Amino acid sequence: MTNTSGPMTAEELQSGAFTHREALRHQWHGVALAREVDTEPVQVSLLGREYVLWRTPDGSISAAPNGCPHRNARLSEGSIRGDGCLACPYHGWAFDPQGRCVDIPSSGPDARIPPKAHLAVTNCEVRYGLVWLCPGDPVGTLPAIPQEDDPAFRRINNPVQVWRTATTRMVDNFLDISHFSYVHRGTFGATVDPLVPPIEVTELPDGYTGYAYEARVGNPSVAAAGVTGQTEPEVDRWMTSGFHLPFTVRSTVRYADGLEHILLLVSTPIDDVTSYFTFVVWRNDDFRVSAEDIIQFDRRIGVEDRTMLETVPGSLPLGNEGVVSVQSDRCSVEWKRRLVQMLES
Ligand code: FES
Ligand SMILES: [Fe+2]
Repeated sequence: MTNTSGPMTAEELQSGAFTHREALRHQWHGVALAREVDTEPVQVSLLGREYVLWRTPDGSISAAPNGCPHRNARLSEGSIRGDGCLACPYHGWAFDPQGRCVDIPSSGPDARIPPKAHLAVTNCEVRYGLVWLCPGDPVGTLPAIPQEDDPAFRRINNPVQVWRTATTRMVDNFLDISHFSYVHRGTFGATVDPLVPPIEVTELPDGYTGYAYEARVGNPSVAAAGVTGQTEPEVDRWMTSGFHLPFTVRSTVRYADGLEHILLLVSTPIDDVTSYFTFVVWRNDDFRVSAEDIIQFDRRIGVEDRTMLETVPGSLPLGNEGVVSVQSDRCSVEWKRRLVQMLES
């Protein structure tokens, strides 16, 4: 038996199961691209539960658990009526942006609406082109990206994918640079020195915790064409990698010419072993290269991570049993320590 709050048992820590923990319901989780919530309701899953997202007449997005109060039909299979209400596909009950049931067609327009017919809407925010949900009362904050409001930067969004791996394994991977010369041989890692300099975990600007490092990386033509804007076979990058609890990782890259490339890696638990993944990029480039050309290199890097992670069985153990960590894992070990603290709260 596992607890939803309080100290995690040794068995829980070793199994790596985490999505049953109440604390996660009070954090924000990125679940969809806002632009994909359009004329039809959209189904997403978070922490083992389904939600429906729908666009309301004022252009904002509403969210609710994906079950109709009447007979539990999936509201995401329904439609948006002409008046902007979300309509259930089964018997046509209709819900306004606040989740109030405003129409029960079988009862007629003058009938009383039972109080239990209303939907309990879920906290929903749109930020960075993404829809974020917080199923409980929000305790956590959304990760900060000051470049979002800086006109020198453009934002590039990417599709949300489903990865067959635990969200915890993804964050562990995104904070780890010692896999570069192995997993990323096919993109930028072929010439990266596998020796990782000592990692010092510190508080980074904007509310992230992580480390700064320098790297000389390969600059294949696909990268040179758009991402780095440089043509040398190798380029120097000044980087930081940091986490924002529970599961976002920000990676910043600065090149010698002042070009900055900020990556927000958003991983979201569908359940203990399945996750959403999307990434958002901000760049202060000259806007000459198309967003597509910029992004294809990062996408190829993502495929390399995904291919590796989907072959690693099971969830990431959250304690010290079942894994061995070395100095290059320091940041991920610190993230895990703070995550467990959060899960136990
Ligand atoms: S199940 Fe939704 S209206 Fe009947
Ligand atoms: Fe990677």
